[in-house]
Amino acid sequence: LQIINPKYTASAVRKDQYPDSGLPEIAFLGRSNVGKSSLINSLCNYRGLARVSGEPGKTQTINYFSVELREKDGEAIRRTPFFLVDLPGYGFARTGGQKRQMWSDFIGEYVTQSPHLVMLCLLVDLRHPGLDIDRQAYQWLSEHGVPLQIVGTKADKLKASEKRKNMIMLKQIFPTGHDAVVHSSLKKEGSAALLERILMSLDE
Ligand code: GTP
Ligand code: MG
Repeated sequence: LQIINPKYTASAVRKDQYPDSGLPEIAFLGRSNVGKSSLINSLCNYRGLARVSGEPGKTQTINYFSVELREKDGEAIRRTPFFLVDLPGYGFARTGGQKRQMWSDFIGEYVTQSPHLVMLCLLVDLRHPGLDIDRQAYQWLSEHGVPLQIVGTKADKLKASEKRKNMIMLKQIFPTGHDAVVHSSLKKEGSAALLERILMSLDE
């Protein structure tokens, strides 16, 4: 499995700005700085596709990247077109005066009302498996019936034993019916497993 032809397509903060191509969407949500944009770049093998920063709050809009998943099906090569959707992070308020909210309203609107969203990857920093803000996000998304895949990020920052232990915790804290995927954009770990899951959700 391989992602090919990644292209930035559109940005949106309102429903009438969503692209109308009808392609299925796989979206990425999680705390600011957890590595959503980096994960998209790593899946696409394309460094500057989504903007990345060491400072939290980099991604401010819903960003759509059109891609194709290339798969060898016996002799035939199959290509499945869809969108990878980068979302702004939560848990970081850029303006101090703002009312404390989990995330901007337009993120909630996107995850509950986007007609083509087939799976939301909820990214959790594998070093911190049970933060309140992530539990709240998970709870809210589950209550709203959003199909979830948990991804433990920045796995390169942990020793093998801690990684195993924290992955077990992730599965217990966020039971989605599908096992959490461990990932490192730095070491390119876990992309194959995540692509398998993405293909599965696109086929459902
Ligand atoms: P916002 O757009 O602000 O919500 O952040 P984001 O979730 O998109 O995070 P982003 O991809 O911009 O990455 C944030 C920081 O984490 C950057 O400094 C990245 O280089 C770093 N980072 C992302 N993924 C990994 C990883 O797998 N391993 C390591 N070591 N660092 C990572
Ligand atoms: Mg980002």
